[in-house]
Amino acid sequence: MRLVIKDNATLVAEWAAKYVTKKINDNNPGPDKYFVLGLPTGSTPYGMYQKLIEYYKAGKVSFKYVKTFNMDEYVNLPRDHPESYHWYMWNNFFKHIDIDPKNAHILDGNAPDLVEECKSYEEKIKAAGGIDLFVGGIGPDGHIAFNEPGSSLVSRTRVKTLAQDTLEANARFFGNDIEKVPKQALTVGVGTVMAAREVMILITGSHKAFALYKAIEEGVNHMWTVSAFQQHEHTLIICDEDATLELRVKTVKYFKALSDVHSQMITDDDQTLEKYWIIH
Ligand code: PGA
Repeated sequence: MRLVIKDNATLVAEWAAKYVTKKINDNNPGPDKYFVLGLPTGSTPYGMYQKLIEYYKAGKVSFKYVKTFNMDEYVNLPRDHPESYHWYMWNNFFKHIDIDPKNAHILDGNAPDLVEECKSYEEKIKAAGGIDLFVGGIGPDGHIAFNEPGSSLVSRTRVKTLAQDTLEANARFFGNDIEKVPKQALTVGVGTVMAAREVMILITGSHKAFALYKAIEEGVNHMWTVSAFQQHEHTLIICDEDATLELRVKTVKYFKALSDVHSQMITDDDQTLEKYWIIH
């Protein structure tokens, strides 16, 4: 596992966007070889999407041969509701870039058969060749996608009832009225994200500091589902200073001492990112 610590959320967004750009470009995708990205919604990745749009407009990256799979979607929220993840992704990212809409996959929380929808989502990921890079965020309770505390660490895409902490955290998007927050969502499982070739998790803010501590300093625990990624070969966590507040000084010092290596990971031109997973 790598922990990249940046001074603030803006620099986290920039590092993440540069990394996604580099991964896409290094893979040199084309009509016979798409790059497959897993994507999150929420306030944390918003800055990364802004930066990716900027890099696309500057000609630094293209999404023409990129397929995307989003992590989750609310159940029974109309697709054009401003808090639906369809709306979020279209307005904050997809409509500004050159992705072919048919390659941008989001679970349909209004599907007549939700179980079948989840099953076919897994099949679509498989048919795309699996996910090359899954980008994720977490909740203050350590959930990844909507894999609430207690979720199976080998879970796959399914219908999930949201935890009280998540309803409270998301009420801010629904006029601070918790009654308006959908109670269920479709979500990829921890196992779905674990199956990606690489996982990049963005964590910012002091309200997520305890979750980051649980994610990296304690053992794998299904009550903090993000901790499962300790057992993934290629996990990158990108966080800001505020999110490190509950970590031990020696943990922070260890990863900060690697900051030169982390800078090289987004600037190295010799297309051998793989080496950064061999030499820590
Ligand atoms: P946030 O949500 O980025 O809006 O904090 C993340 C999450 O709950 O998974």
